[in-house]
Parts: sequence; C-alpha cells; structure tokens
Amino acid sequence: MLDPDARDLLAALTLDEKLSLIHGNSKFTTAAVTRLGIGELVLSDGPHGVREELEPHTWNTARRGDDFVSHLPCLSALASTFNVELAKEYGDVLGAEANGRGKHVILGPGLNIHRGPLNGRHFEYLSEDPHLTARMGVPLVQGIQAQAVAACAKHFAVNNQETERKTIDVEVDERALREIYFPGFEACVKEAGVLTVMGAYNKLRGHWCCQSDALLNQVLKQEWGFQGAVVSDWDAINETLEPALGGLDLEMGSDKCPSYDEYFFAKPLKAALEASKVPLSAIDDKVARILRVMMHTGVLGARRRGRVNTWGHREKARQIAEEAVVLLKNERGFLPLDLDKADSIAVIGDNAIQVHGRGGGSAGVKALYEKTPLDAIVARARQGASIDFAQGYARDASPEQAAKLRALAVRAAKRAQVVVFCGGLTHELDREGFDRPDMKLPFGQDELLAELFDANPRTVVVLITGAPVELGDWHTRVPALLQVCYAGMEAGSAIARVLFGDVNPSGRLPTTYPKKLEDSPAHSVGEFPGKDGVVRYKEGLFVGYRHFDSNRVEPRYAFGHGLSYTRFEYSNLELPARVNPDLSMSVKLAVKNTGSRAGAEVVQLYVRDVESSVPRPLRELKAFAKVTLEPGETKNVELPLAARSFQFYDAEAHTWKAEPGTFEISVGSSSRDLRLNGKTEI
Ligand code: BGC
Repeated sequence: MLDPDARDLLAALTLDEKLSLIHGNSKFTTAAVTRLGIGELVLSDGPHGVREELEPHTWNTARRGDDFVSHLPCLSALASTFNVELAKEYGDVLGAEANGRGKHVILGPGLNIHRGPLNGRHFEYLSEDPHLTARMGVPLVQGIQAQAVAACAKHFAVNNQETERKTIDVEVDERALREIYFPGFEACVKEAGVLTVMGAYNKLRGHWCCQSDALLNQVLKQEWGFQGAVVSDWDAINETLEPALGGLDLEMGSDKCPSYDEYFFAKPLKAALEASKVPLSAIDDKVARILRVMMHTGVLGARRRGRVNTWGHREKARQIAEEAVVLLKNERGFLPLDLDKADSIAVIGDNAIQVHGRGGGSAGVKALYEKTPLDAIVARARQGASIDFAQGYARDASPEQAAKLRALAVRAAKRAQVVVFCGGLTHELDREGFDRPDMKLPFGQDELLAELFDANPRTVVVLITGAPVELGDWHTRVPALLQVCYAGMEAGSAIARVLFGDVNPSGRLPTTYPKKLEDSPAHSVGEFPGKDGVVRYKEGLFVGYRHFDSNRVEPRYAFGHGLSYTRFEYSNLELPARVNPDLSMSVKLAVKNTGSRAGAEVVQLYVRDVESSVPRPLRELKAFAKVTLEPGETKNVELPLAARSFQFYDAEAHTWKAEPGTFEISVGSSSRDLRLNGKTEI
C-alpha cells in the first residue's frame, strides 16, 4: 500500500523521529528529519485563501508584507453557484496559491452541514443539503490536490455550532448521521481521495470526535477506506491513549501542553508504548499515513512551483462571486438598472464600504485587495451620473449617532432616482467561536429600511451575510433583493455587474431562508444550542428543506431558489419506467431560454419515495446541472441517478437499502418551483 520509498523511510526512522512526525512542532508545522531528507510538513488555513503568516509559536500575526493573497468567495458563496466546474477551479486557485506560499496542506474545505442559521461558521460551510455538499466538495478537493497540495475535509463530524464547541456532546440518530451529516465527508474520501481529514472539537454520543474509534477507525478508515491522515483540530485532544488508539494520526495545536515535547503524541505516547499500552504498529500506521501526505505534496521531493495573486486567480475569484449572487426577488423587472436612466444613485449602508476578508476567525484572508460595492458602482456607473453615499447605520453608533446617520441616509434617498442599500451582517457576528444571538438584521437596519422605503420606494436591497437573516416588514415593499454571501476580493464588482445587467444572475440558495428563527428545524424542536452540555438533534433527518417541505412550513425563500433576468421553459421529461438492477438511471429533459438575454439555469432533480416503511423526506435533491443558454436556445440535459438517489440507511442492518415501489422524480428551478414530474419503479 505504501510507496516503496516511503516504506524504506518508515524502516529507517528511529522511534523518536517517528514521534516527531505525528505532532506539531510549531503552530502549523511538524518537525523535519533532516538526516533522512524529510522536511517540515506545513499546514495552513484556510478555505477561502491561504491564511496570513503567523508567528511560529503564537497566534499573533507575523506582520509580513509578502503574504497578501487572492481572496476567494466563502464556501457558502461557492455553493450558491451550483457550478461543479467552478468548485474544481476554486480548488486549483487555492492549491496554486498554497504552493506559492510554501504550504503543503490546506485546512479546508469545511463540510459541516448548515443545521441552523445562527452558527458563527455558517459561511465556512457549503449547504444544508448533503448532495450539494458532496457534489461541490469533491471537485474542490480534487482541484486543491491536483496542485500537489493536500486538502483537509473538516470538521469530522457534526460540528454544527460554535456555542460550547469544545465540549458539546451531540446526540444524533444513525440515519441522520449517514444520510445528512456524513455524505460530504464520505464522497471526499471515496471519490476525491482527500489526503487529510480534521477531527472536530465536539463529542459525538459521548466520545470526542478526535479520538473516537467508532468514527475514525471504523467508519472513516475501515468502511470508507480512508488512506490519508486524521489531523486533530487545534488543541482538540486532552489525553494520549484514546486518540492514539482511536485513529488520530497527527496532533496539532495542543496549547495546554507546556512544550512540543510534552504534546500527547510526544513523550507521553513514548511512555505508553514502553508500558505496552499502545503497539508500535499503531504509531507506524500514523507515520505511514503522514508520509503518504508528504509524498503527494513534495515534502519528500520537489515542491510544485506555485503562483499567488495572478490575474487569472482574480478573474476566477470574480467569476465565482458573480455566479454566487442570488437574486431573491425582482418585481416587474426592476433589475437590471438601466445605466442611461440611472442619473443619480444613492448608495446607502455600511456594507457598501466594508471589507470582510480578515474577519471570521481561522478562515480570515489577508486579501491583496477587496473591491467594495461602492467602489464598483462608482466605477461602473455612467459618466456624469451622480452617486451619493450615506453610511445609514454603524456598528457602534449611540442612539443620537444612529438617528443622525438615518436622517442623512433618508435625505440622500429622497434626492436619488434609485437607491442601492448594502447591508446585512459582518464578521463581528459571523465568526468562529461564537453563534449569533438571533436571526435579526443588526445595527438598526430594519428601522432604517422602513424609513428608506418611505423616502424612496425605488430601493434595491443587497444583503451581504454569511447566513440567512430575518427580513423585516420592509420585505413586502422591496422591489428587488439580492443575497450575497461574503464573496471575496471581487464581491463588489460582482454585485455591481449584476445590478447593471452585465451579468445575468444565476446563483441559488444552498440553504433555506426561513421567515423566522423558530421555523428552522433545530429551533423548532428547541434544540439549539442544547442544554447541560448536550445537544439532541431531535429533528433527525429533517434538516433544511427536508423539514420545511415535509412539515409544511412556508420558508421565506426556498432551497435552490434564485431568479434570472431571463426565463426558462422545461419540457420533454424522459425517464425509464423501471430503475436499472444496479439502481442507476438517467433522466432526460430539455430546457429552453425563452427570454431575450443569455443566462444560466440550475436544473434541480428531486426524488421522493412514494411509500416507505421508514419516514423519508418529502423530496431530496439527487442531481443538478447548470446550463448556460443563449436567448431562444434549447439544450437537452441528462441527469444521472445512482443507488444512493433511492436508498435510505437501514440503521439496524447497517446498510443502504432501497425498497421496491414507486419513486417520484421532480425536476425544476428550485425545491418549490418544480416544473416536470414523472414516476419510476424499483
Ligand atoms: C479551527 C480549524 C482551524 C484551526 C487552525 C481551529 O480553531 O476550528 O478550522 O483549521 O483552528 O487555525
């Protein structure tokens, strides 16, 4: 299994050298074994761009001038594109920049499921849906690893909140684990051969995820055949024996230990070996796995030459940001704005001038630059157009200051032909180590918007957030509404290009937008963030739209929703009457662009088991395709389905099972805008 060179190395390493390879020797590196030509393994956050350099032994910035990078959209934004090719290209950029910055392992992607909207790290994760998470996660990992850099699927598993993140114990049933929380990880292991997986801080059913034999040895390594190394989350382990035997391979960031020599996988592990509590084979297995990562990433040979901040990387960042913009509402074609008619525009709101890159925690990026919406609107507007800016609200404003900011904004709104309001959240609220206290728009934005609509009903709202927010009463009055998750260095350009129609929006919600917090599943069962150190996932499988649809709760905006400046017509659904014996099948249909602009449609296929012996969601996404069409153009689309499209996890038999009977196949533009329906049989 191990490459012959790595096998020779393993045989040549002394015990102390082996131990030095399985724990950190600075915040983000392991020790080198110079005698054998083994360099340091250099790990780095993060998922949205290579993290800035820190001092080797502290969390302080190294204050370097050579660590600016391309800042890609956050993973929730990437998922909004529903574009698997872009996910691959995102990985290519990240991998190339990792090489350019001397990193071997990129600590991403984050594959945790959006269980609820308050999670401070919501923006770091892709979706509430396991299929979308897996389909975007796989090419992303492939892209990173194609650059001879290791990706790291994190945080395994059920790390769905930041409140008490280092201690919370998750109680969740086996089906929900297998059908909702695991598939992203499973696909990245089986299909992308992800080289590292990061264990989560939290416990699962009473066992710490970084030392759980059931999770790491049995599921990840034995069942799924994971060949790479399991890395602890930073400072996630508290002892030696259980993690050493439980499947953890690399201990990182143990701040509680006084020195690297005293890390749990250093002297204490040597003592455990000498006391025959841990076999040498367990240590050898860890080293072999780490050597495998090193072989792929050039630690043992020549590193791939990388590049940072190329023009191509910036263009890619812009393209992803553009496809990530979701047009939630557009009454009577209010958008795009006509440049010739928009003589005076008031840009209002703090997020028109905010940059977000460095915020959020470990996913922060020291961006080469960040184009704000205001910069981009000014650059794009017609020569001679007057553009006014008013901040409108501010984070730390006193009541008097807030009233003054509102009055100035209202004055600007009254004078303008059209208002573009840029609000939402910032990384003060969307951040690691903290969950939002509620789903409301902060800093008095609801009050401000009410006044703005009185002053000028021609107000477009652009929400820049990492997660859904509750939309105030102004929502009924807004003619056009855009949702953009933190979209990287080119976020402003993407927003301006959509507003002015240079780009036809094609983003879709990767996660349901609830009307109010209590509607979302974890909150509807009163289980966020748990009680007395335990959070019970009582909603089970019914996460995201599976809950909204099956329990008939009306969302504000449905999973998969997103409008275009053109229209698409669906026809000619073709599906076989019976599923193939291996449970595969192919569904065909035609999509036509019936409008007058080129655009891209996200064709979504949902499956429903009409009658089942176990509870199953009303519909589940099992395939999608992004199709670009010129005006009047028609394309045939083929959507393949595989066994998992029909199966559920039989927790008693520990196996996937499809029951004979009828399955309904629905195809459409969102989970609630289904255009074609058919039936097939197993
Ligand atoms: C986070 C990880 C991150 C690590 C290193 C932890 O606090 O949970 O996602 O990769 O720190 O910065």
